[in-house]
Order: sequence, then structure tokens, then C-alpha cells
Amino acid sequence: TEETLVLVKPDGVARGLTGAILARIEAKGYALVDIRLVEPDRDRLAAHYAEHEGKPFYEPLLEFMMSGPAVAIRLAGNRVIEGFRSLAGTTDPTTAAPGTIRGDYGRDWGLAVQQNLVHGSDSSESAARELGIWFG
Ligand code: GTP
Ligand code: MG
Repeated sequence: TEETLVLVKPDGVARGLTGAILARIEAKGYALVDIRLVEPDRDRLAAHYAEHEGKPFYEPLLEFMMSGPAVAIRLAGNRVIEGFRSLAGTTDPTTAAPGTIRGDYGRDWGLAVQQNLVHGSDSSESAARELGIWFG
């Protein structure tokens, strides 16, 4: 088994989609190991998004992520890193496949950053690092 870090981003919490997103995760059969409401601050976000520093969407991304509470989830299951990314859909919510979280609930709002509802770690190294940031 393995673990991943999932975030319901501030747009998902603000839109009241936390329950719907959790229902999809549970229906898929992954195990909730830990879950908490977080108020993302700049220090944690800078660590979390270090790979994107300097990109044009970096500052808007941090501002968006600090715009309200998020839900951090420690999620476990066989191949859960790959499996949750599949459940989430591709980054751009306009073209994410219907049936995915981003494809069903997200779209482009004309803002500087893609508001795409969820985050999921993209590798076992990222998962270990990000779980340390949000649950350490
Ligand atoms: P996460 O699970 O949130 O990490 O999404 P991802 O792995 O699908 O995307 P990535 O790590 O490349 O980017 C992190 C976040 O930055 C995305 O989820 C978007 O919110 C935002 N983002 C990434 N690429 C772009 C882009 O090209 N344009 C804009 N406007 N936002 C982007
Ligand atoms: Mg990513």
C-alpha cells in the first residue's frame, strides 16, 4: 500500500464540494488515514509549490491557495498516488475528462490561475515531502 497527500483547495471548500469529493474518494475504496481543515500560509505553500517558483502563475497560485480554508487528507491504498491523479483529472478543468473531479466540477473562470478544486501528489517522493508539510 502507499499514501498520498490530497488537498481540497479553497475553491472546493468555498463551493461546498468537500463532501462530494470525499464521497468519490471513498467510493473508489481508498482509506482516509487523517483529515484536517487547514488555513494555508505562505511558508507552507512556498514549500509545497517550490517546483513552480518563478513561473507566471506562481504568485496567483499562492494568493488563491491563501484565499480560504482547505482540507488536507492523508489517503492510503494500493497505487493511490496514480489512482487519485486519475480520479482528479488533468490540470486544466476545461478539458479534464467528464467523470473526473475536475472534469465534472471545474471550468476556467478567466482568472490568473487554474482553480481546479483538488491537489494530489505526483510521485512517492512528492507524497512523502507533502505529507510532511501538511501533517508533519
Ligand atoms: P496539483 O495537484 O495542484 O499539483 O495540480 P497538477 O499537478 O495537475 O498541476 P501542477 O503541479 O503542474 O500545477 C500546480 C497548480 O498550479 C495547478 O493545479 C493549477 O492550479 C496551477 N497551474 C498549473 N499550471 C498552470 C498554468 O499553465 N496556468 C495557470 N493559470 N495555472 C496553472
Ligand atoms: Mg502538481
